[in-house]
Parts: sequence; structure tokens; C-alpha cells
Amino acid sequence: MNLILLGPPGAGKGTQSQELAARRGLIQLSTGEMLRAAVKAGTEIGRKAEAVMKSGGLVSDDIVIGIIADRIDQPDCAKGFILDGFPRTLAQAAALDRLLVSKTRKLDGVIEMRVDDAALVDRISGRSACAKCGAGYHDSHKRPKTAGVCDVCGSTEFTRRADDNAETVGKRLMAYYRETSPLIGYYFAKGVLHTVDGMAPIGEVTKQIEGVLKSLAAA
Ligand code: AP5
Repeated sequence: MNLILLGPPGAGKGTQSQELAARRGLIQLSTGEMLRAAVKAGTEIGRKAEAVMKSGGLVSDDIVIGIIADRIDQPDCAKGFILDGFPRTLAQAAALDRLLVSKTRKLDGVIEMRVDDAALVDRISGRSACAKCGAGYHDSHKRPKTAGVCDVCGSTEFTRRADDNAETVGKRLMAYYRETSPLIGYYFAKGVLHTVDGMAPIGEVTKQIEGVLKSLAAA
């Protein structure tokens, strides 16, 4: 099954992608994670992306389309993937359509996670992730079961993202409304859009998404 999780920064795309990947054996493809890895590794792509990401803008379509085209070709994506943070512009969505056709694959569904803007700053400013395996946490909404120890790999090191501050969040939100929100209409018109209430508790959102996936499997 090939899916897109769509929503503003902090909507819970990464949280739910990790959950779905663990439950269903799908591969999470987060362009944000891939770009952060490129920045950390100091690659040419990382050098081009770093300043844009820090400012809350969008990295160029060419770069992210190239990253996704290469990644979808890897054997581990054969069973299915969850796109988290891609596409983010109409040009990226059109490129994805062409890519899937060229590989005789299809998009099964797009899940829009709807969240009030007011909740996003709280979610983003309280976010952390395991430095070793990347599992996501929140200071109040998703704490590790044992304080300071990752539930997944047992690491005791956690990181916070450079772009997770109130000023950059505002810019990322503007970029979402300007460039990404038109994708809601794009996928509605294709008949593949499903909306869940991203304001519900994390486990409840997971149940809503599972309900969508069951309806897709039965269709
Ligand atoms: P990216 O890494 O994709 O960031 P984003 O879209 O801004 O989304 P986030 O990762 O901030 O949020 P999320 O929806 O995954 O929320 P999460 O699950 O972590 O992109 C970063 C940057 O890279 C971009 O700004 C851009 O510069 C560049 N980029 C990436 N892709 C690009 C592309 N395709 N084109 C161009 N540029 C690109 O949840 C947030 C917090 O809330 C967590 O702590 C979580 O525990 C908590 N939480 C989650 N769900 C709930 C809930 N239901 N209730 C309470 N708390 C919750």
C-alpha cells in the first residue's frame, strides 16, 4: 500500500508514519529526515538545503523530487511506503504522479491530518527524538515509558530540531498554507483524499487512520 500523510508542521505525520511503519511493515519516507541527514553528513544537497530549512522555507522541488525518485526505487519500498512531508507543492505532486506511472505503481490514499493552528506551536516546541533510532516524543503528549530512556532502542540520548522554534514554525506554517494546502483540493479531485481529526489523542488518530486503511483494503 502506498500512502501520503498530509498536514501542517506538527500535525503528527511523523508520529503516525512511525506507528504505521511498525504495524504494517511499510517504509516511512520522510523528506525532512532525509534532508536533515544530508545536512548532518555535509553533502552537496545538505549544503543547499540547510539555510532554507533553518528559515522555514521549502527546499527546491528538483532536490526533493530527485531524493524521492531514488528512494522509491530501493527494494525495501516494494511492499509499500508512507510519504511523510512529500509532496509539498503542486509541482512535486505532479512529479510523483509521473514517477508512479513510470514504475507501474499507484497511490492508494492520501490522509489529511487536520489540526488547529493554535496546537502546532505547543506540539513542535515540546518535541524531541531519540538520537539513535529517531523515535519521536513530546514533553507532555508522548513521554518515554521510563523517563530519559527511548522505548524503542533503549538509548538515553535525545535531540531537538534546529527549526523547532516559534519564529520558524510561523514561517513553516505560512509555507504550508501557500504551497502545500492546495494539494488537499488536488487529491480530493482525484478521489483519494481521506481526512482524520489530528486534534484527537495520538492513539485515537492511529485508530482513525487504521479505519481508513481498512476501507481502502475493502474497496
Ligand atoms: P519536515 O521534517 O517534513 O517537517 P514538517 O512538515 O514541518 O513536519 P514536522 O516534522 O514538524 O511535523 P509532523 O507532522 O511530522 O509532526 P510530529 O509527528 O513530529 O520538514 C522540515 C523542513 O524540511 C521543511 O520546513 C522544509 O524546509 C524541508 N522539506 C521537507 N520536505 C520537503 C519537501 N517535500 N519540499 C521542500 N522542502 C521540504 O508531531 C509533532 C509533535 O507533536 C511530536 O512531539 C508528537 O509527539 C506530538 N504529537 C503528534 N500527534 C499528536 C497528537 N495527536 N496529540 C498530541 N501531540 C501529538
